[in-house]
Amino acid sequence: MKILITGGAGFIGSHVVRLFLNKYPDYTIYNLDKLTYAGNLENLTDIEQSSNYHFIKGDITNEDFITSLFKKEQFDAVIHLAAESHVDRSITNPLEFIMTNIVGTVNLLNAARSIWGDNYDNNIFYHVSTDEVYGSLGDTGYFLETTNYDPRSPYSASKASSDHLVRAYYHTYGLPVKLSNCSNNYGSHQFPEKLIPLMINNIKNNKPLPIYGKGDNIRDWLWVNDHARAIDDVFHKGIIGETYNIGGHNEWKNIDLVYQLCTVMDKKLNREKGTSEKLITFVKDRAGHDMRYAIDATKIKNELGWEPSITFEEGLEKTVDWYLENEKWLNNVTSGAYKEYYQAQYN
Ligand code: NAD
Ligand code: TYD
Repeated sequence: MKILITGGAGFIGSHVVRLFLNKYPDYTIYNLDKLTYAGNLENLTDIEQSSNYHFIKGDITNEDFITSLFKKEQFDAVIHLAAESHVDRSITNPLEFIMTNIVGTVNLLNAARSIWGDNYDNNIFYHVSTDEVYGSLGDTGYFLETTNYDPRSPYSASKASSDHLVRAYYHTYGLPVKLSNCSNNYGSHQFPEKLIPLMINNIKNNKPLPIYGKGDNIRDWLWVNDHARAIDDVFHKGIIGETYNIGGHNEWKNIDLVYQLCTVMDKKLNREKGTSEKLITFVKDRAGHDMRYAIDATKIKNELGWEPSITFEEGLEKTVDWYLENEKWLNNVTSGAYKEYYQAQYN
C-alpha cells in the first residue's frame, strides 16, 4: 500500500509517520510537507533512512503540483494532516489558514478523485481534524460526533470548512473518506507556540509564563502517541463515511495545568518547590477565546477498542523529559523567526 501522509514533518504528523513505518514495514510512506515554520525534518531523523520512506517537499495549495504528484505516484490512500494549526496565528493572518486548510484540502480531494475514479479499491481519504470545530462548551456537556458545528476562530472555521468539504465529496462523489476530530495534543516534537511546550521552554529559561485572561479556560489533553494510535485504528478499522471523536477524558484549567507543569519542572531542574510558579504572569486574553473543550470518546472506544494508554501525569513527565533531553532541537526551533513571533505575540 502506498500511503501519502500530508504534514508529516509537523508535530502529530511526525508521530503518525513513525508509527506507520515501524508497525507496517510493507507499506510505503510518502511524507508531503511544505516545511513551514512548524514543519521540521529534525522530527524524523530516526526514520529518514528507511527504504520505504520518501519525503516530498511541496505545498498543498499548488493545484498543478498536487495533481501531477498523484498522477505520478498513484497513492492508494491519504492521511491528511497538513494544516496551519495555531489559533493565535489565525487571528493575525486568517488568509493563510483559508488557503492551506480549505483550498489545500480541496486540491487533495480532487487529486484523489482524479486517480481513483469511481471504482474504489480499498482506497481511503482520511482527514484529521480538531474538536475546535464544535465551538465552546459551558460548565457541562461533551462534544459528540453529532454535535452541531459552531467554529469561532479563523482556525476552527477553516478546519470546519474542510471537514464539510470532505463529507461533501463522500456524499456527492462517493469518495471513500474517514474523519476524526481530536482534542488538544501534547508530547514530544510540538512547536513551542502551543501552551505546554511554550511553558516548558519559558520555565527552563526563567522567562514569564503568559496566561491568557484568568487562566480558567479548559482543554482536554491527549498524549500525541495516543492520538497516533487512534489514527492507526481509524485508518484500519474505521468505517468509510464515518467520523470518530478522539479525546483523553482529561480536562484541565489552563492555570492548574501550568501549576502542575511548574511542579514537575522544579523537580526535574532541582529547583526548590514553588520556584517556577513565581514566573506566572496573567496577560491580555485571546480574542474570542473558547472557554471549554471536552470530548466524548465513547464511539471510538466501543467500536474500535481505542483508549488512551497512559495517564496525564505519566505523559507530562515523559514530555518534560523529552524537551530537557533535546535541548538542540528546542534551541534550533526557538532561534530566528520564533523570536520575532514571540515578540509580536507577547510584546
Ligand atoms: P503542526 O502545525 O505541528 O504541523 C503542520 C504541518 O503541516 C507542518 O509540518 C507544516 O509544514 C505542514 N504544512 C502547513 N501548510 C502546508 C502546506 N500548504 N502544504 C504542505 N504542508 C503544509 O500541526 P499539528 O499540531 O501536528 O496538527 C496536525 C493536524 O492535526 C492539523 O490538521 C490539525 O488541525 C490537527 N489537530 C491538531 C491538534 C493539536 O492539538 N495539535 C488536535 C487535533 C487536531
Ligand atoms: P493552545 O496550545 O494554543 O491550543 P488551543 O488554543 O488550540 O486550544 O492553547 C491552549 C490553551 O492555553 C488555550 O486556552 C489558550 C491558552 N494559552 C495561554 O494561556 N497562554 C499561551 O501563551 C498560549 C499559547 C495558550
